[in-house]
Amino acid sequence: MLRFQHEINNWEVNQVASTVLVTGGTGFIGSHTTVALQKAGYRVVILDNLHNSHAYVVDNIAKITGVRPAFVQGDVRDPQVLASTFRQYTPDAVLHFAGMKAVGESTALPLVYYDNNVHGSVTMLQAMQAANVRTFVFSSSATVYGDPQQLPIPESHRREATNPYGHTKLVVEDVLANLWESEPGWRIARLRYFNPVGAHPSGLIGEAPQGIPNNLMPYVAQVAVGQRDKVRVFGNDYDTPDGTGVRDYIHVMDLAEGHVRALEYCRDCDSSELLTVNLGTGQGNSVLEMIRAFEQASSRPIPYEIVDRRPGDIAACWADTQLAEKTLGCRATRTIQDMCDDAWRWQTSRVE
Ligand code: NAD
Ligand code: UFG
Repeated sequence: MLRFQHEINNWEVNQVASTVLVTGGTGFIGSHTTVALQKAGYRVVILDNLHNSHAYVVDNIAKITGVRPAFVQGDVRDPQVLASTFRQYTPDAVLHFAGMKAVGESTALPLVYYDNNVHGSVTMLQAMQAANVRTFVFSSSATVYGDPQQLPIPESHRREATNPYGHTKLVVEDVLANLWESEPGWRIARLRYFNPVGAHPSGLIGEAPQGIPNNLMPYVAQVAVGQRDKVRVFGNDYDTPDGTGVRDYIHVMDLAEGHVRALEYCRDCDSSELLTVNLGTGQGNSVLEMIRAFEQASSRPIPYEIVDRRPGDIAACWADTQLAEKTLGCRATRTIQDMCDDAWRWQTSRVE
């Protein structure tokens, strides 16, 4: 297997570097953010229970960066695991990706979602209090905006949730606001992601959904590779240019780099801070445009059929990115074609 650099142990890299704890770090967004953090000079310890990811991701991160992140297999709801992780690695910040994210599953299993996403976050915050660590970056979602009243969507847009998954994000956002108000010293970023897609350009890490993908782009990739017959396009009668749903797709590496900026912003600010910011591109693309871009990336036709709308879907959604640009200096640079090219490389090169 290709090695990009001579691999060294995370802990030999730089004894003065800051250490950050990345929960859910073997998952889709957490693994790419780990790469971006390591490239920026951070030492990373990953905590993941492997509920929706694989341990080989740690090896592949090491192949990309030349540095092996520390890995703890454990659950964020387990206070003992958290205490021992804080004791052993003394991180000074936490990026909290661990959680469950399937909207449909959350409707069938609300208690599982509240337990994992809300109880998991609260348990982590308690462990941080006990360890006197007060910098926290949270994975929130554009889902907190519900059906948008305006486009692009600014952070000041009213919040509402239409499913249990969305409620868990709202609740944790509120927990963080209450904590920040009650206790001086917390530096918190609530990052609202739009639609992360793509993969690392090495093809070594990417999105690996288990079972039938819920999201458009992993489904399209599986059709392109012949694993599924055709894409089912959920409705072509929306009030959008081609009638299909429009979303703000952001390359996962742009999203990952946004986390590094947010972490640096939190660490550099003089006093406590509660930052709430959209991470998107500010551009919307339709389902059919995404299918066409993937056809280009894969040089194959991607069959699709138009079916009924998916219950709960909105017509269109894209981010107002001004605050991200102003506060974080963050601007997504990768194109839709980059997203599809990288996702295709991952889809065709992955070995599990
Ligand atoms: P993912 O499922 O690929 O990664 C989540 C990781 O967390 C997995 O590796 C899983 O094993 C781990 N995990 C889950 N529960 C855990 C627990 N209790 N203890 C320890 N580890 C646990 O998902 P992702 O797409 O990388 O999403 C990361 C975060 O971003 C999630 O909080 C998700 O809700 C949020 N988010 C994702 C999207 C998206 O479209 N992917 C959009 C908005 C927000
Ligand atoms: N779509 C299809 N066919 C599919 C899957 C999706 O046509 O097989 C369409 C949807 O109707 C929608 C678009 O493709 O118009 C994108 O759908 P996704 O399921 O990929 O993404 P969503 O915008 O519905 O939701 C995603 C995450 C949520 C998150 C939200 C905002 O799944 O968790 O982005 O960040 F909250």
